[in-house]
Amino acid sequence: MTAASCANPAARPQARVRLRPTMSSDIEFVLTLEGDPANLPFITPWERTQHEAAIRFPDFRHFIVEGGPGLDAVGFVILIGCRSQHQSLELKRMVVGNKGAGYGRAALRVAKKVAFDDLHAHRLWLAVKEGNGRAQALYDSEGFVVEGRLREAVKVAGGFESLVVMSMLQSEFAARRGQGLEMHA
Ligand SMILES: CC(C)(COP(=O)(O)OP(=O)(O)OC[C@H]1O[C@@H](n2cnc3c(N)ncnc32)[C@H](O)[C@@H]1OP(=O)(O)O)[C@@H](O)C(=O)NCCC(=O)NCCS
Repeated sequence: MTAASCANPAARPQARVRLRPTMSSDIEFVLTLEGDPANLPFITPWERTQHEAAIRFPDFRHFIVEGGPGLDAVGFVILIGCRSQHQSLELKRMVVGNKGAGYGRAALRVAKKVAFDDLHAHRLWLAVKEGNGRAQALYDSEGFVVEGRLREAVKVAGGFESLVVMSMLQSEFAARRGQGLEMHA
């Protein structure tokens, strides 16, 4: 997978980011981000071996998000189901370190382009914790549709948390692109 960049004109100003495949030497950065108390409430962190497998397994795409003036590593994105016969890909995880700077939105736009243009997704879906308002607002404003709720699907300290399942279809992505809301092909 080649790196993709995002500098498209769209309704909102865009941070400059690009995605490149994660390498073994990036795993420490990924684990550090996952272990950050600012992120832990919103994700279920993986073991090192899971990330190592994910960067090699053909069904997965594991990307480092590079952003800012120096295109430093600012986050990571994982897509799974890339070889799904149903063309149903999951945005498994997206984490950025410097929050609120637009990297998440920009990275999500590139991830959608990769999923629909390069990996020929018919459907791109995700499950976000019900209490994660920031991520839900982002996904909603980027055109993802709520499919439903997986009740108390995740065990957390002190109980269980529900997940909100959201998705976008290829036709919806194409319509958004027609409105100038997505990166050009
Ligand atoms: C979710 C995440 C990837 C978003 O990335 P980000 O770079 O912080 O987001 P952006 O700066 O691009 O902002 C995107 C939108 O998030 C929403 N947002 C940002 N901060 C928010 C807050 N404190 N509360 C509610 N919504 C907020 C806004 O809708 C914002 O849109 P705007 O451009 O109109 O301001 C990032 O915050 C993160 O890594 N969070 C922890 C891990 C996580 O939750 N991952 C997703 C798991 S499904």
